[in-house]
Amino acid sequence: MNSVNWEGKNVLVTGAGGFIGSHLARKLLDMGCFVRAVDIKWDGYLDEPYYSEKLTLDLREKNNCITAIKDMDYVFNLAANMGGIGFISEIGADVLHDNVLINTHMLQAAHENNVKRLFFSSSACIYPIYKQNNPENVGLKEEDAYPADPDDFYGWEKLYTEKMCEAYNRDYGLDVRVARFHNIYGPEGTYQGGREKSPAALCRKVALASDPGEIEIWGDGNQSRSYCYIDDCLEGILKLMESDYREPLNIGTDYLVTINELADMIIAISGKNIEKKYDLTAPQGVRGRNADLTLAKKILQWEPKTSLQDGLKETYEWIEHQLKNDSK
Ligand SMILES: NC(=O)c1ccc[n+]([C@@H]2O[C@H](COP(=O)([O-])OP(=O)(O)OC[C@H]3O[C@@H](n4cnc5c(N)ncnc54)[C@H](O)[C@@H]3O)[C@@H](O)[C@H]2O)c1
Repeated sequence: MNSVNWEGKNVLVTGAGGFIGSHLARKLLDMGCFVRAVDIKWDGYLDEPYYSEKLTLDLREKNNCITAIKDMDYVFNLAANMGGIGFISEIGADVLHDNVLINTHMLQAAHENNVKRLFFSSSACIYPIYKQNNPENVGLKEEDAYPADPDDFYGWEKLYTEKMCEAYNRDYGLDVRVARFHNIYGPEGTYQGGREKSPAALCRKVALASDPGEIEIWGDGNQSRSYCYIDDCLEGILKLMESDYREPLNIGTDYLVTINELADMIIAISGKNIEKKYDLTAPQGVRGRNADLTLAKKILQWEPKTSLQDGLKETYEWIEHQLKNDSK
């Protein structure tokens, strides 16, 4: 543990125009790294500059991956064509095509350029659907990944790239770290446009609702998930990157709530009087998904600290503020 002194290191963050990547770039910059931030587009929610160098590159092209990686010691590969349940239920070919290209070229470029270590952001979507049919999910352990039956095309691509990381490590000695993120949320994440995830979508709906008013819930609201606040996720990423652990590891929380409970918490934060209506034809994903953190706690001596209540309050206030600015 703590095998990396980050001060002065050359660090690449891909997907740095997105939610987790932008927060990570800012944290690494604050820790004294030279941070090269790469993305195909910039959402611009964080105050710039939160990096040392910014390159706008399409990482589906191998030459761009080589440009991005040149002279870098450590690589955090977070770039992905992805979104919430609405997006990943609908888009299959582009998700597979884009993400296989990004991750294939990034791994090969990392190998050819002898980077010291590469981080890959996998997902809870790699876990088999047959383990997630019950809203009272006790928690998915890392070993539950096989026999494989991932959640849709997005989950298959993540599982395939986990295997590519394993192969590059075995055949070429590329030092890899793989986190399986479980629903990361917080301020400065996507909150509109179709790629937003459930906490951000519900915060937006509640913030836009009249008082008294109503919001629409996708499904019957009894589907369950666990949610991890961005600050805890960043700490988990860094601890994993500093560790000697090369197998995939869950980064999330084991605090399970139904979508109804999540919505009620957000409604209470808003102080509004809001009724929930249900769209039973909308995508709702697996019935119950939770993270088992036994291994992460043991390997990293890490566990999330932020309560869902506190994290949602920060997120709600940021989204409410953004919506007010958007409407000016
Ligand atoms: N947020 C979560 O809850 C969650 C859960 C599981 C896994 N993940 C994974 O974590 C990573 C970061 O997720 P996020 O929530 O910050 O998503 P995000 O969509 O906010 O960020 C991803 C970024 O990748 C960029 N990108 C897409 N295609 C690109 C390309 N061809 N070239 C360069 N950049 C490209 C996007 O423009 C975007 O800014 C992703 O790999 C995602 O699959 C996230």
